[in-house]
Amino acid sequence: MSDRRLVRLAELEDPGSCSAPDDELGELIVVRRGGAVWAYRNVCPHTGAPLDWQPGRFLSVDGLHILCALHGALFRIEDGSCLYGPCRGEALQAVPVSVREGWVCREG
Ligand code: FES
Repeated sequence: MSDRRLVRLAELEDPGSCSAPDDELGELIVVRRGGAVWAYRNVCPHTGAPLDWQPGRFLSVDGLHILCALHGALFRIEDGSCLYGPCRGEALQAVPVSVREGWVCREG
């Protein structure tokens, strides 16, 4: 199994997010809540646009959702599904990740 290191868990706020480059998938959204992490391609399902409201910042002010600042769309952190906004019912493309030796790593 080959794991690709994306970011150190300790570098992520809790809750927090960052962007991370991936050679195959382009830029990824990495989200942390406690010891849990998730990653998605940084591609909105309805326009293909990146979601950052500031470079590498993806969470709503309350830290409960991934936010598209352009449209106010909200995505569930746990599965990337759009709960509110123009792409409601669609979902971000999930990328499997895990924490190994203090690093968030892409699996596969
Ligand atoms: S770009 Fe799709 S919700 Fe904003």
